[in-house]
Amino acid sequence: MGEIADKIEELKLSALDCRGCGLCETRSNVVFGEGNPETPLVIIGEGPGQNEDATGRPFVGRAGALLDQALLENNLTRKHVYIANVIKCRACITENGRTRNRPPSTSEINLCLPWLEKQLAIIQPLVILCLGAPSAKSIIHKDFKMTQERGKFFESKYVRYAIAALHPAYILRQDGETYELTRRQLVEDIAAARQKVIEAKKEPIQTLF
Ligand code: URA
Repeated sequence: MGEIADKIEELKLSALDCRGCGLCETRSNVVFGEGNPETPLVIIGEGPGQNEDATGRPFVGRAGALLDQALLENNLTRKHVYIANVIKCRACITENGRTRNRPPSTSEINLCLPWLEKQLAIIQPLVILCLGAPSAKSIIHKDFKMTQERGKFFESKYVRYAIAALHPAYILRQDGETYELTRRQLVEDIAAARQKVIEAKKEPIQTLF
């Protein structure tokens, strides 16, 4: 393994023991992130759902299948990118014997963010693609508005080029033409992120600092 992969593996091992917030009480697995740690393109979702919690892997449910398909339409696979989430453990609520996902609280996000920050410091991507508003609010700016700002590039403290796309789970909740439109937007935003990587690689190194 290379040095970057070793560092990511070491960080993962400590994340797997994290007891930094109450989500550790209900999780089955920490979903640290996976993919190519030497990639210039990191994709960041909100947090694990039921399937991810059960397997310890990001985006393995229906939303993950849509993401994989949208990547493939850009000639990309999980081997080309690194996929992580803002929070590493499933945020859920159990009512009447049924467990469902819930949005993570601000304190859960803030307590978990250092793991993502450390991941990004090791990987040092050229481009980050945020999936969904919670991810964009953490990475791009706290008042991010998906309807107005998706598909545009922003500079953030984590990366020179950050862009946000609709979350695949949101797209799956749309019907008919809206489904087709939002799905196309996801494919286009991945294409924009991919193209930005190509352009950023050509930039003289000093302009990257
Ligand atoms: N949704 C996310 O934001 N992340 C996952 O890993 C799965 C679903």
